Amino acid sequence: MIGGSGLAAGIDLEDAQEIAVSSPFGEPSGPVITGRLNGVRFTFLARHGAGHRIPPSQVNYRANIDVLKRCGVTDLVSLSAVGSLREELVPGQFVAVDQFIDRTNSRENSFFGPGLVAHVSLADPVCARLSGMLAAAAHEAGGQVHTGGCYVAIEGPQFSTRAESRMYRAWGADVIGMTAMPEVRLAREAELPYALLAMVTDYDCWREEEAGVEVTDVLSVLHANARTARDTLSAMALKLQNLRDPSPIDTALEHAFITAPEARD
Ligand code: ADE
Repeated sequence: MIGGSGLAAGIDLEDAQEIAVSSPFGEPSGPVITGRLNGVRFTFLARHGAGHRIPPSQVNYRANIDVLKRCGVTDLVSLSAVGSLREELVPGQFVAVDQFIDRTNSRENSFFGPGLVAHVSLADPVCARLSGMLAAAAHEAGGQVHTGGCYVAIEGPQFSTRAESRMYRAWGADVIGMTAMPEVRLAREAELPYALLAMVTDYDCWREEEAGVEVTDVLSVLHANARTARDTLSAMALKLQNLRDPSPIDTALEHAFITAPEARD
C-alpha cells in the first residue's frame, strides 16, 4: 500500500522489516516496510517520504511502483487526502474513487518510451474487486464511505483557484488531489490491480461564502481519521485471501505493445 499525507508514519505490522529497494527508475520515496497484518503480507511505502519532505510533483512515481512490484506486491491500495467538490462528500468521510481526470503536467507517466511503444487501457482504471473490499473495510472500520467518484489530479503544489474548482465540478469531478496521477497509470502498466480510498479533508474553494483551503484544516481532519484508516487496513487484511481468481488487470500488457518483438531494444 502507498500511504499519503497523514499515514506517513506507516501502519503497525507484525515482524516489520524496513528494506531499501533500488530501482532503475531512480530513488523511490523511501524504504518499504514489509510485515504481516492479520496474517496477510503488507508492504507499505510512504508516498511523501519520511517526515513528509517530497512534494507531489517530485514524487518518483515510477520508482515507487517499480519497487513495490519488485517486492512481489500483487494488489496496490492507495490512501490519499482529497478536497471535496460536492456538498454531500463531507470532510471526514471516505470515497472509493473509480475514475480520474489528469491535470498534472510535469511528471514521468509511463514505464514505456522510445524503443518500446505500449498503450494500455485505462477505461476502468480501478480494480472493482479490490475497491469493493476497501470500501467495505472502511465501512466496517466505522468510516462513512461513498462508493464511486471521480478524482481530478492537479499538479500543485498550490491549491486551485475558485474558477478552476468550479470548472472541475462542471467536468464531473467529485474530489480533488495532487497524487493519484500518474500512480494509477503506472500501476496499470505494471499490471497491478489498484484501488484508492480518498479521505475527504476539505471543501476546496468552490463554495463562495467560504475561505480557501487551509493546510491546518487538512491536517486536523487527517489526524482525526488516522485511526479509521489504520482500522480499514486491518479489516481489509481479513478480506484478502491468499488465493484469489486472477484479476483481469494481470493481463493489461497482453495486447498493449505496438513495437514488434524483433524491434524492441
Ligand atoms: N488534498 C487535500 N485537499 C486538497 C485540495 N483541496 N486540493 C488538492 N489537493 C488536496
